[in-house]
Amino acid sequence: MLSVRGLGKDYGARTAVKALDLEVARGECVGLLGPNGAGKTTAISMICGVVTRTRGSVAIAGHDLATAPFAAKARLGLVPQDLAIYEELTPVENLEFFGALYGLDRARLQARIAAVLDVVGLSDRAGEPARRFSGGMKRRLNLAAGLLHEPELLILDEPTVGVDPQSRNRIFETVKRLHGSGTTIIYTSHYMEEVEELCDRVAIIDGGAIIADGAIADLVAKHTGRGVELELAGDVEAAVARVTPLGEVTRTGSAIRVVPHGALAPVIAAIEEGGASITRIESHEANLEAVFLALTGHELRDER
Ligand SMILES: Nc1ncnc2c1ncn2[C@@H]1O[C@H](COP(=O)(O)OP(=O)(O)OP(=O)(O)O)[C@@H](O)[C@H]1O
Ligand SMILES: [Mg+2]
Repeated sequence: MLSVRGLGKDYGARTAVKALDLEVARGECVGLLGPNGAGKTTAISMICGVVTRTRGSVAIAGHDLATAPFAAKARLGLVPQDLAIYEELTPVENLEFFGALYGLDRARLQARIAAVLDVVGLSDRAGEPARRFSGGMKRRLNLAAGLLHEPELLILDEPTVGVDPQSRNRIFETVKRLHGSGTTIIYTSHYMEEVEELCDRVAIIDGGAIIADGAIADLVAKHTGRGVELELAGDVEAAVARVTPLGEVTRTGSAIRVVPHGALAPVIAAIEEGGASITRIESHEANLEAVFLALTGHELRDER
């Protein structure tokens, strides 16, 4: 559905995106994660042809963005990070405008407008100018505009940021349903739990490059040791020697991190029998947040 090769963008001396490679199969839902300034929005903007690329190529459903831009873009829906709606216009007027840009005929356009307003829960406010809407309602209208022409590939750039829980839920459930019905999705969010629930696969971007790409379960298994961290007092050296046959051990001063080959109990027993005592024990949660932290050194959520 999407093939990105060597995609990059320089702003003068600053490289926003180095050389991105990304292949997305039809029906996949890929999460795009990265700290602030990683290059996510720039990459998305180039994929959609909104920002001109410095290097590389993009093809959507086999249509090259450079040589067949209309065929490529017709298959694409973008829900941008910065709201792209006209505040003076009502939802219906906004959607009539965007629908016309996508070349929807009058009958289909009216049917689609009614359908997407229902999906995002704005049917009862369809005749009011958008400037009177709350932030969450504007975000929902922003989403509706991206869904109007039933794109095969839907790209969402932080669609739930800064909105009330009710709107957030509505947006999230809408995206989930679209994925369920076969739409290919690229989803950028700072909310790990959304990405974990929604996406089959994640690509992590840092410093303008993809630093990890794979199924969430595989990334978690690869980049975060399960296991425990133990703070020891006494003969740490002897404890490490006794634990080494029982698991993977890394030592930092008086703390050791153990990923046991089997159960944890024998590890604890071995340490105590060796004459050291355990002053603190902490289990490592194996989730996407831990992968992100391990790979980028940042916590995603604290960035904002
Ligand atoms: N128009 C521009 N001119 C100059 N530099 C830019 C421009 N747009 C983006 N950049 C730079 O490119 C880098 C990547 O920005 P980008 O907006 O793609 O990051 P992001 O991953 O989307 O971050 P966020 O999570 O904050 O949305 C940043 O260093 C940014 O300052
Ligand atoms: Mg961004």
